[in-house]
Amino acid sequence: MPLEFDILTLFPEMVAGFFSSSMLARGQANGCIDIRAHQLRDWATDKHRKTDELPYGGGAGMVMKPEPIFSALDALRRPQSKVIYMAPDGVPLSSQLARELAGESHLVLLSGHYEGVDQRVRDAAVDLEVSIGDYVLTNGSLAAAVLVDCVSRFIPGFLGDEKSLTEESFMTTFLGFPQYTRPADFRGMRVPEVLLSGDHAAIAKWRQEQQIEKTRRLRPDILNEDPSI
Ligand code: ADE
Repeated sequence: MPLEFDILTLFPEMVAGFFSSSMLARGQANGCIDIRAHQLRDWATDKHRKTDELPYGGGAGMVMKPEPIFSALDALRRPQSKVIYMAPDGVPLSSQLARELAGESHLVLLSGHYEGVDQRVRDAAVDLEVSIGDYVLTNGSLAAAVLVDCVSRFIPGFLGDEKSLTEESFMTTFLGFPQYTRPADFRGMRVPEVLLSGDHAAIAKWRQEQQIEKTRRLRPDILNEDPSI
């Protein structure tokens, strides 16, 4: 059974191209995933298909109304569904969280716009809130697309080459090692000799050393190390 994604957004066209290209298109074709992007406005009932209103208590911007969102979720959610609200103040998306979500059967991703959604949606209809980073996007559609992409990579068969994920167990702890391809000498820049040696043990050792060094230099927080050491 494919992992199903239903995305609720005011801009389904923003993510349509992303989902119909490359690996995500292939994942849908080979039955690993099923992605549907829905126009939230379709659940608005008034003549103007309004989905936002001024905030109670005043302040700048608009807030997304609860009724269309609750109606959409009533239509889309099933007993086993997990409803995720994409929000800059959610829990950070990580490889570990993506791996956990890949074990679900149905994810409903709600992407916000304006100043976000009415708090009652978050309190009563959402199972998990996820952020893709400490910055604010103009809407959550791209964030939902990022989550679909990185969760899909953990679905068995999605990557085709299972080795890519095995190698990644080290990669989720450390940053990646440098990759090279032909030619061995390009404009005087030579590929490190060890990679041309055919000595697999030496290559594995070199790659691990590179990963540790790069992680220590760029992301000492991952190693729980003080950068000044
Ligand atoms: N919506 C707006 N900004 C976001 C972010 N950083 N992560 C998830 N959803 C968002």
